[in-house]
Amino acid sequence: MAEKILEVKDLHYNYPDGTQAIKGIDFSVEEGQMISILGPNGAGKSTFFLHFNGIIEPTSGEIIIEGKKLEYDKKSLLEARAKVGVVFQNPDDQLFAPTVFEDVAFGPMNMGLPEEEVKQRVEEALEVVGMSEYSHKAPHHLSGGQKKRVAIAGILSMRPKVMVLDEPTSGLDPNGASAIMQLLYDLNAEGMTIIVSTHDVDLVPMYSDNINVLRKGKILKKGNCREVFSDKEVIDQADLRLPWVGQIFEHFDLKDGRTFDGEGYPLTVRDAYETLKNEL
Ligand SMILES: Nc1ncnc2c1ncn2[C@@H]1O[C@H](COP(=O)(O)OP(=O)(O)OP(=O)(O)O)[C@@H](O)[C@H]1O
Ligand SMILES: [Mg+2]
Repeated sequence: MAEKILEVKDLHYNYPDGTQAIKGIDFSVEEGQMISILGPNGAGKSTFFLHFNGIIEPTSGEIIIEGKKLEYDKKSLLEARAKVGVVFQNPDDQLFAPTVFEDVAFGPMNMGLPEEEVKQRVEEALEVVGMSEYSHKAPHHLSGGQKKRVAIAGILSMRPKVMVLDEPTSGLDPNGASAIMQLLYDLNAEGMTIIVSTHDVDLVPMYSDNINVLRKGKILKKGNCREVFSDKEVIDQADLRLPWVGQIFEHFDLKDGRTFDGEGYPLTVRDAYETLKNEL
């Protein structure tokens, strides 16, 4: 069995105004997994993610990175952030430097890497997200989707073992969203452990087969795409819906008069193609 790279034990988090955003989460990630967290607005996804490298400290419970309990002194946090990189939901919370280049260079510079290596990593990260030609531009002059790409590059340049992305596709154009998901998929194939949150039920099944549904600060369900999307109660409770492809099939009757049961819906275009070929 693969090593557990990240563990969360009985996590609770209350905001200072008393909001109980996380109400007891146990969660573990094995090295090399690609996990998605689905959940409606306010479910606690962003709050959950901010715990993974100590950006916020739990009210109770613990975070364990590579078997070591996360502590909140400066040295431990630096160490944690070199291993686990978190891309914020809103890039304006992340980007701060005068130029794109300096922003993406900040992480690796903080890790104490030599200047030449920093430069090389920045160039590579910007290339990967398709933003090389913007390296001298001010981040606040970029479009929303461009900022998002730069924010991703800023974490990529640190080459963390685990990359955590809070809604990486929101605000991106359709090709941009697919390109980012494909990029994450490729990074995962090369061995990076990836955790993403999203509302995008159409894109998720294509890239991740390990889903956790979050609702009201708790994990409501864990499973693969089929297990999650065939559970109508969970989908309703979490304000999710079937992928469009699956919804179309709700309206189809098969040749011999059978209908699809919840478990049989194709969830991706490829599944749909196979089903249509065989059944209609
Ligand atoms: N700074 C804050 N102070 C008080 N309550 C907060 C704060 N930030 C978030 N919350 C509350 O915590 C809960 C979880 O919010 P969170 O942002 O983690 O949800 P989310 O799942 O990321 O939602 P979204 O899909 O809209 O991004 C919500 O009820 C929210 O109102
Ligand atoms: Mg959020």
